[in-house]
Amino acid sequence: MNFGDVKPETKPNIVILISGSGSNMAAIADALKAEKVEANIAAVISNKDEVEGLQKAAERGIHTEVLSHKNFASREAYDIALIELINRFQADLIVLAGFMRVLSPTFVQYFSNRILNIHPSLLPKYTGLDTHQRVLDAGDAEHGVTVHFINEQLDDGPNVIQAVLAVDQDDTVISLQEKVRQQEHIIYPIAVKWFVEGRLKYNGKCALLDGQELPKNGLRL
Ligand code: GRF
Repeated sequence: MNFGDVKPETKPNIVILISGSGSNMAAIADALKAEKVEANIAAVISNKDEVEGLQKAAERGIHTEVLSHKNFASREAYDIALIELINRFQADLIVLAGFMRVLSPTFVQYFSNRILNIHPSLLPKYTGLDTHQRVLDAGDAEHGVTVHFINEQLDDGPNVIQAVLAVDQDDTVISLQEKVRQQEHIIYPIAVKWFVEGRLKYNGKCALLDGQELPKNGLRL
């Protein structure tokens, strides 16, 4: 018997958190399926009901849950309920895909080193909201998007991949949003795939790909 051929019995479980249209969630699900990646999207959880992303997940046969933040008195109480819900799916990786809530230190510590996020800017530039408008206001020649690990500070954990794009003179918030979205759908599936294949890790200080520390900006496409 060749023990090298023995496959692990269980696939890594991914839980994806959304709040809206879920286009990144769909891109990840479609890419993992198309590339036959050994991973299971165990659940898509939204903090808002009736969002398009829930429909997109259901169309793909993915289990969905809604946990509304409106039913909780504090961020901490919501996050504890979210931890309990996620634990039902034995998540190896939490993917934030347009989940419009700041996560408490309790949540981040609980799932330490296994939460990925996508942010529409070239982090560390433009943490927070309204990134496209801020790029236009600053007259930047380039813009982009970053996949990064989550730590306890907002949009601050180590970068994994960035896609860079040129800002044209006639760009608007809408056109930048569209350009960025296209790149998001390319880079997020790549990062998720690396993680579930065991190639991408976060050691609490930096992101590592195949054991090598990634550059501060992450890999640039
Ligand atoms: C993306 O633009 C992402 O960068 C930001 O939220 C948006 C989510 O879009 N964090 P979608 O719900 O995946 O379509």
